[in-house]
Amino acid sequence: MNRISTGIKGFDELVEGGFPEGSTVLVAGLPGAGKTIFGLQFIYNGAMNGENGVYICIESSPAELREQASMFGMDFNALEEQGKVEFLRIPKGNVRFNLFQLISKAVEGVKAERIVFDNIATYVVSLGRYVSLWDEMFKAPEADKKENSLTDDKAAVYSIIEQLKSLGRTCLVITHGDASGARISSDGMSEYLCDGIIKIDIVELGREPTRIIKVAKMRQTKNILQLREFEITQRGIEIS
Ligand SMILES: Nc1ncnc2c1ncn2[C@@H]1O[C@H](COP(=O)(O)OP(=O)(O)O)[C@@H](O)[C@H]1O
Ligand SMILES: [Mg+2]
Repeated sequence: MNRISTGIKGFDELVEGGFPEGSTVLVAGLPGAGKTIFGLQFIYNGAMNGENGVYICIESSPAELREQASMFGMDFNALEEQGKVEFLRIPKGNVRFNLFQLISKAVEGVKAERIVFDNIATYVVSLGRYVSLWDEMFKAPEADKKENSLTDDKAAVYSIIEQLKSLGRTCLVITHGDASGARISSDGMSEYLCDGIIKIDIVELGREPTRIIKVAKMRQTKNILQLREFEITQRGIEIS
């Protein structure tokens, strides 16, 4: 089996060298944990080594992401010009679109082998702001357009993850962690749908706050389960 290396210092050795090719991996954590930086490094390192990528932007704009990446020495402009990376902005507001078609087109456009969806929790809570064909397929009509019931949210998460999986590329699905700690993701379901789970957190280990990362699950992999401390340096995430 082919392994897809993240190129993140200290990470690949936790998963036998990389993610199984074609797997869908959940990256969960509270705000500020480092999920987006992880996703950017995954796409950047891939594209620099001949594996192109699509970064699906829900929470931040492509401009914000390029700026954030540049702080860690990642210049996406050149990669975008060379057609190796696309930041895919999902239209907000009254624009009709089919989420899956948008993503598939971008993936085919740059011949992407890597995908990052950043992030599914924000997409689902703001479904009311997106007019997609998905709405017509899965949501009750006008009656409860304003408020999504829990069932709608879960149906959305399920549908998006299944569609991403159907593309057969190696995909990171970023989501919000569960603040109570009882579940991994805020929706409590993504963790059962994905082939792998990475938890990123900031914890107080009796001294100063420390960043930790843990590979809680990785199919077809003898993953190292111990949590590892990491830092965000000028080169991005570096695990000790
Ligand atoms: N230049 C930098 N050097 C070190 N750490 C940084 C730098 N810029 C941002 N950070 C840290 O990264 C965090 C944001 O990481 P990010 O991946 O965007 O988090 P999220 O999990 O919310 O996506 C910030 O809260 C900050 O602690
Ligand atoms: Mg983020």
